[in-house]
Amino acid sequence: MCGIIGYIGKQNAIPILINGLKRLEYRGYDSAGIAFFQDNRIGVRRCAGKIKDLEASIKGEKLKSIAGLGHTRWATHGKPSEENAHPHRAGGIVLVHNGIIENYFELKEELKKKGHVFTSETDTEVICHLIHSYSQNGLNFEDATREALKHVEGAYAVGIINEKEPQKILAVKKDSPLVIGIGKGEFFIASDIPAFLKYTKDVIILDNGEMASITHKGVSISKISNRKPVTKEITKITWSPAMAEKGGYRHFMLKEIHEQPRAIADTIRGRFSLEKAEVNLEEFSMKESDLKKLNKIFLVACGTSWHSALVGKYMIEEMARVPCEVDIASEFRYRKPLIPRGSLVIVITQSGETADTLAAQRESQKLGAKVLSICNVVGSTSSRDADSVFFTHSGPEIGVASTKAFTTQLTGLYLFSIALAKSKGKLGAHEIRELFNELLYLPEKVEQSLRLNNAVLKIAKQFYRVRDFLYLGRGINYPIALEGALKLKEISYIHAEGYPAGEMKHGPIALIDNNMPVLALAPDDNVLEKILSNMEEVKSRGGKLIAVATEGNTKVLSRASHILSLPKTNYYLTPIIFSIPLHLLAYHMAVLRKCDVDQPRNLAKSVTVE
Ligand code: AGP
Repeated sequence: MCGIIGYIGKQNAIPILINGLKRLEYRGYDSAGIAFFQDNRIGVRRCAGKIKDLEASIKGEKLKSIAGLGHTRWATHGKPSEENAHPHRAGGIVLVHNGIIENYFELKEELKKKGHVFTSETDTEVICHLIHSYSQNGLNFEDATREALKHVEGAYAVGIINEKEPQKILAVKKDSPLVIGIGKGEFFIASDIPAFLKYTKDVIILDNGEMASITHKGVSISKISNRKPVTKEITKITWSPAMAEKGGYRHFMLKEIHEQPRAIADTIRGRFSLEKAEVNLEEFSMKESDLKKLNKIFLVACGTSWHSALVGKYMIEEMARVPCEVDIASEFRYRKPLIPRGSLVIVITQSGETADTLAAQRESQKLGAKVLSICNVVGSTSSRDADSVFFTHSGPEIGVASTKAFTTQLTGLYLFSIALAKSKGKLGAHEIRELFNELLYLPEKVEQSLRLNNAVLKIAKQFYRVRDFLYLGRGINYPIALEGALKLKEISYIHAEGYPAGEMKHGPIALIDNNMPVLALAPDDNVLEKILSNMEEVKSRGGKLIAVATEGNTKVLSRASHILSLPKTNYYLTPIIFSIPLHLLAYHMAVLRKCDVDQPRNLAKSVTVE
């Protein structure tokens, strides 16, 4: 997820671009750049690092321009560096992009054969060269862009300028956000409204397949595919700039909970082929032959990422029948682990900088094991030092409590498990296609689960004053009980425990009385009957039961005073769906308790010390 901005008007564009990028920094902050018209040429300034570094690098130049583009990057292809920073250029075409070009590799190879020289590792640069090659063939700016986009697969929000047409910005959109600000004689494009909200509250929301052509005179919008003009209404924004940075949500955590459908869609995009019934192993920087040789997997992480690892064990062992061992990283590094030959250590880390996880990664490599890092930050230590990497494309996670990173980690583990199972001959093409089909429906099912927000808020209003909370789960959802408890603990400061439901009678049931709320995860799976009887045990001792169940399950009705019903999915993806109401519950309880949701006391987003 990156942030793009463009400006054309009467003011000096440079400070507008820089300040706009600062309002978009939550979308990505590993490198930044601007492009601007000056004496009918296009100047470009870029740097690795944050926007303040870019600002410092141009300070002495006193740049002035009436139009330009800006970009703040969250790397997906190519490490954070000046060469990979946007804007990218080919000939007189300069552009900034937010999204993922799925077929960039093939396009880049074709263009290189035609003599195009690339200067970056990014997918974005391919778009410049395509537009440039069509404009070389005599097409005007708009049509060269249209032709180029016919070849592009994936998600994009692109701002484009052309040295041959200095008074114009083109903006095109498909599956990545792009909005247009309508000022008085000045116009803006951006990934998100905060970038220009201080200048205008009049906004046009571009839709998929639309192109905006913007000059000083105004904005004309047409269909990319057939040039047909499109009439758009202007929306008046009522948010404050601060609220707008959170997309109108009160906290980053709530925004990130609601970003999960997009984050999961971005994480699966280009990572498997339904037709070939196979995972795109390039995205794991692995080969099928590597997987085939594996006879043991270690999953190592901390906190919420450790919960992902626990779910990953169920996925890998049940799909691929390869034994898995799960470790908390701070334990793994000191227990002198026995790592047999033919093992793979998978470290899972949102930040890629967690000290204990990095130490475990180094220990594993010292012991001769290969390491796969499932990570959300390109250029992070874990991703750079690992032997192979799978990047979750959830975008920056600002809230300390991990949500979208967690569900995209589980998505990555699901894909890895399928690839491993295929290499071991444990899954055939038909079963693999069924697993992929369910994955394609996942973003919509997460969207559906998010509609429980008000029902969850109602439950939170009843329980937010409690001192203790118990979460019960079984099988692949036992780690989700742990995750629900951790979320509640870390942002509302209520003492909460996650427990395997079968363990209740071995001690924790002594805790049950009518002051103890118990949340039971009861999906339609092979242990449903067992969890129902655990719920009976709780109910008969006066415990207050909240059931999270698969929609249509009537058996929980008689056992729980609150029911949250979720869409049905397959066994392996249930943990993702069932974590949604638990994240919402923790959020609402924390807000009701007036806690600092995004920056809870004593915590840091990335624990870079032991
Ligand atoms: C999760 O909500 C917590 N903020 C914390 O447990 C986190 O998951 C843990 O510190 C691991 O961080 P990482 O994924 O960046 O390695």
